[in-house]
Amino acid sequence: MAPAWTGRCPGCGEWNTLAETLRPTAQAAGRPSLRSRAGARSPGGGEPPRPVPLRDVEVPATDRLLTGIAEFDRVLGGGLVPGSLVLIGGSPGIGKSTLTGMALGNLCASGRRVLYISGEESAAQVRVRAERLGDQALAVPALAENSVESVLAALETERPDVCVVDSIQTLHVEGMSGAPGSVGQVREAAAAIMGVAKGLGIAVILVGHVTKDGAVAGPRTLEHLVDCVLLFEGERERSFRTLRALKNRFGATSEVGVFEMRSGGLVEVADPSARFVGEASRAPGSCVLCAMEGTRPLLVEVQALVAPTEVVPPRRVATGIDRNRLAMVLAVLARHGGPSLGSADVFVNVAGGVRVEEPGADLAVALALASAHRGKLLGEGEKPLACFGEVGLTGELRFVAHPERRVAEAIKFGLAPVFAPLAGERTEGLSPQRTLRAALKAALSSTAAGEMREAA
Ligand code: TYD
Ligand code: MG
Repeated sequence: MAPAWTGRCPGCGEWNTLAETLRPTAQAAGRPSLRSRAGARSPGGGEPPRPVPLRDVEVPATDRLLTGIAEFDRVLGGGLVPGSLVLIGGSPGIGKSTLTGMALGNLCASGRRVLYISGEESAAQVRVRAERLGDQALAVPALAENSVESVLAALETERPDVCVVDSIQTLHVEGMSGAPGSVGQVREAAAAIMGVAKGLGIAVILVGHVTKDGAVAGPRTLEHLVDCVLLFEGERERSFRTLRALKNRFGATSEVGVFEMRSGGLVEVADPSARFVGEASRAPGSCVLCAMEGTRPLLVEVQALVAPTEVVPPRRVATGIDRNRLAMVLAVLARHGGPSLGSADVFVNVAGGVRVEEPGADLAVALALASAHRGKLLGEGEKPLACFGEVGLTGELRFVAHPERRVAEAIKFGLAPVFAPLAGERTEGLSPQRTLRAALKAALSSTAAGEMREAA
């Protein structure tokens, strides 16, 4: 706790982590706080709570609420849990309002009571979007509202099964100073909504903005409070979007949904590998990565461009992969049998706007870079080369999870043999490589080896 603004936390030394908590204004001090109001709604208000052995706790048989968007339901762990609180984060324009609007439209059509609360746009603007999404979305009751008190009142009178609050950063708690979107306001608003919604069994989807580094709704304030945190990602200029769970109390966090933004809203991409492999180019600097998105294998194209430069330090641009991993792969390449790219700009891109957050992408990045540098195709034949594997600091290739599923996906598209680290038992369709050096040599076979050694 600090009495004044401090850029750097004196406790942990991190920058910009202090959250301002404002005292309620004098006017509000006389009133019961939102939280105690919310608490009073829970059954058995006055009595002190008594703990119950878990085996005696009743688990109500609940059906999940299906949003009718298969990818969304899958990421949620099989649909929305009644009474749960879900936070969907994403940068502006990614499609959060579109996704939630479509989900409410479907729920409404299947006979559920729904409510869309928009703090960001006027009801007319929401209607314009709904017109693009079709009749179902137009049937959704909407409310343009910024005051938390009014939102709570609407929840109590409407008692919907599912309510979307778009977005939590635009809500304002009366009697509390601080602008909407400040940490104190966001926290207080979310806690108040949660108190009421849990009491009434309303599933609430909170839409939240993300900060530049991807944290949802301020410094992780809400992530502890809610049951699920979903992140909607992608690049605005591209049409592909991925929805992944960062936290899910009712399902696995490894599931990922893939969508495409079209003129009539978001369309699920049921077989993303087919799309990405179909679009993959057979050119130097390109290869196919057998990635895992949750429990699902996904083939994506990794592209690299290497261009000589006078600029110091040269540029390293990574889209869809981690920048630090790119730096590591460049260092290992330079040291262990690949080109030394110290005087070249390097661009690496995962095509289609997908993010690959696993070390299994290293080998694909390394091969694409070496191929781009040499101006030589990877592998032989018509099809692009497929690979996966982590690159260790000593140049060895390291095992990554689910080799058999990755290879099976590649076989499905005729991309075997797959360059990969040695797996425990022999996997059909795999071309095992022990080191990065060996993999480079085999992938760029005919002329590569000599010059590679020179470059190193
Ligand atoms: P939106 O859902 O408003 O994004 P967010 O709520 O995350 O800020 O929509 C994002 C973009 O999607 C917007 O620029 C317009 C585009 N879009 C389509 O391409 N097709 C559609 O059917 C709709 C509704 C939106
Ligand atoms: Mg929006």
